Amino acid sequence: MHLIHQIFHDHFNCAPTVVASAPGRVEVIGNHTDYNGGTVVGACVEKRLFVALRLRKDQQIRLFSQNEAELVETSVRSYTTETLPHWTSYALGVFDEFRMLGSHDLGFDLAINSAIPTGEGLSSSAAFEMATALAFNKILGLNLPMAALVLLSHRAENRYVGVPCGLLDQTVVGFGKTNSLIVLDASSGRHHVFQIAEAARLFIFRTHIRHELRHSPYEVRHRECRNALIALSKVIPGIRHLAHLHPSDIKAYDIIMDEVLVRRARHVIEEQRRVGAFLGALHAGNLSAAGQFLNASHHSSRSLFENSSPELDFLVSQLCAKESVFGARLSGAGWGGAAVALTSPAFTSVDAEQVVDAYETNFEARPGWWTTTIGPGAMIHEEDGIHNEEGIHEEDGVNEEDGVNEEDGVRTEEKVEKPSKVQSKNRTQKKAENKPTKDPEVE
Ligand code: GLA
Repeated sequence: MHLIHQIFHDHFNCAPTVVASAPGRVEVIGNHTDYNGGTVVGACVEKRLFVALRLRKDQQIRLFSQNEAELVETSVRSYTTETLPHWTSYALGVFDEFRMLGSHDLGFDLAINSAIPTGEGLSSSAAFEMATALAFNKILGLNLPMAALVLLSHRAENRYVGVPCGLLDQTVVGFGKTNSLIVLDASSGRHHVFQIAEAARLFIFRTHIRHELRHSPYEVRHRECRNALIALSKVIPGIRHLAHLHPSDIKAYDIIMDEVLVRRARHVIEEQRRVGAFLGALHAGNLSAAGQFLNASHHSSRSLFENSSPELDFLVSQLCAKESVFGARLSGAGWGGAAVALTSPAFTSVDAEQVVDAYETNFEARPGWWTTTIGPGAMIHEEDGIHNEEGIHEEDGVNEEDGVNEEDGVRTEEKVEKPSKVQSKNRTQKKAENKPTKDPEVE
């Protein structure tokens, strides 16, 4: 029995109906371009998060996180972000989206176990959302395509979790492919898959500074970019995305914007060009040139977008001093989190340890590092032994008794209740003694 089944069984005393998993992601280049309508490149890391799900016949909701060692109880009528622990909002945000589709009103039991570090720029949140979305899609028999699940999870993050992030995380986590980069054009939502050269390695170094995107400088940057776009649209009519402008536009019109907005806009516009140049270099098999664009991206984040940190700058400068490193930069939102390095196979664990030794001397903390093979995106796990103990139909996950149309999984009576602000019952129960001591499974 796989670990997530065991966890589910231990806490809910029965087997799950559906198991889904999703990986973390690393942003390779395209920093803060996604919510500015630009192009961004990411890849899935091999560390994954598992979700196990079973629908209930009543309206109770029970969520168990192995990582938090916490069981949370609420109900379909009363779940809310206000009193429940923050980690639950990723699953409940996705559930809320499915409810808004009118798809069902049943309670559920859900367990999660994750090997993706949180708060370190690897998008454990998108992994949680995408695995949950896949599991609900399957259990409800909705057959929504991955693109719809990406948008649904992205809406959950924006609306329910409250982070105004772009489409990067959910797209990469949803569509990731082994040994491939995902190139997203965030203005159209389209992506394509770009196979990475065999000689390329990705190393990830985690600073000891965690970041949180809610109520953070991320929101401030988001606003600044919007304000820059509004200012420029007065003189360049019809522009919809900052990333679609040319660097000369900023030069021509910097007089109308305050200096901070000019820096933010320059970063986005120039980063957009670097993404193209990076892909061009990869296409030509020139990893050294590709690496230079990563370094330039970091430089721009540090000086123009101001989303780096002394820890990230230190890691990047140590990495870039190594001959076997093509380039390095901060990955994801910034202000802590992780840095990514594109290296040749000559970069080894000895080099990585030297980098973290130097970091430790400087910051009195030892960052984690690992080399990642690029893994596949989110998926459903069709397992033996997944069976159904509550009479819930295996194929479409719902039964007629509950007023649900078996064929399309859509409620015959479309009544969608918004979560009330006042909770009738929200119970959380901490089980500190259950804290996992080692990395959870990779099944
Ligand atoms: C976070 C967000 C993404 C993206 C990056 C910065 O990871 O979730 O949407 O904006 O920051 O590029």
